[in-house]
Amino acid sequence: MKSIIKVDKLEKSYKDKKALEGVSFDVEEGEILCFLGPNGAGKSTTINILTTALSHEKGDIYFNGTKINKSAYAYKSCLGIVPQDLAVYEEISAEKNVAFFAALYGLRGKELKTKVDEALQFVGLLDKKKDKVKTFSGGMKRRLNIACAIAHNPKIIIMDEPTVGIDPQSRNHILNSIKELRRRGATIIYTTHYMEEVEEISTRIIIIDHGKIIAEGTKEELKERLADEKLYMIDVEDIKGLRKDEFFRIEGVKNVELDNSKIKVSTLTGIENLDKMIALIINKGIKINNLSSDTASLEMVFLKLTGRTLRD
Ligand SMILES: Nc1ncnc2c1ncn2[C@@H]1O[C@H](COP(=O)(O)OP(=O)(O)OP(=O)(O)O)[C@@H](O)[C@H]1O
Ligand SMILES: [Mg+2]
Repeated sequence: MKSIIKVDKLEKSYKDKKALEGVSFDVEEGEILCFLGPNGAGKSTTINILTTALSHEKGDIYFNGTKINKSAYAYKSCLGIVPQDLAVYEEISAEKNVAFFAALYGLRGKELKTKVDEALQFVGLLDKKKDKVKTFSGGMKRRLNIACAIAHNPKIIIMDEPTVGIDPQSRNHILNSIKELRRRGATIIYTTHYMEEVEEISTRIIIIDHGKIIAEGTKEELKERLADEKLYMIDVEDIKGLRKDEFFRIEGVKNVELDNSKIKVSTLTGIENLDKMIALIINKGIKINNLSSDTASLEMVFLKLTGRTLRD
């Protein structure tokens, strides 16, 4: 695969707060590169530097092998940017919003009109094109935010958490759209907290934490890191009366989560301990409703790498 963007040793501070500490990576043509990281990890900072919206102190960005400078017209004209905070105008129509952004990228006249309609059609808002944005739901605004970024057919689309706070239908529509954009030849850089999105759309993943890249690879490669662990999901009538430390006493158990009526236990493969877990549960008179197992999930890898403590 051809590297389209190369990022070399980026460093960024906000006053005395270091946000990025030597972040380097390549973006390959045609991939969906997902950035995953806890709150405050440095995802938006990285993305905003990539879009040139934010300056940085050290490090370089190369586009097709050439270092980008301040004006970077050739680079910027290839970008479509979906920011984390909605960037749409409430008081004007959906159509005028998309046209505004498309015009910034040089589209005019008939071509502008056609591309605006195509973008609205693509995100499922064509029939709402005359409506003012203030009448839109959150999910519709998110989709419009995407339409604004893609009307000029950008080669590289940079999306910062485009699915935050929307319903499963809108999310599904957006994820399918992203895959379709890739099929049409775009390269996509995407940030999210949602593991299931990464599972569904990523061709490669970069995990970032405390301003550093801590892991990189396809989802299969990342899961390979936990190849010696598997996950049991046990649905019970009621978890009251169960304690984590009781599970930890069972040989092989690496982690336990108790949540409502669900028990999630990750355990070393090769140790037969399921019978002990079941005995622990039923000896307390708790009914088991369902039981399933899975190999290591992306979430397990993520939590193992980034820890379980809450972030700001
Ligand atoms: N404008 C700013 N001024 C000061 N500190 C900032 C600013 N923007 C970000 N930071 C800090 O820089 C660090 C990285 O923030 P960033 O927004 O890049 O994280 P993120 O991974 O996008 O997080 P989230 O998932 O919450 O969007 C955080 O510690 C954050 O508090
Ligand atoms: Mg962010």
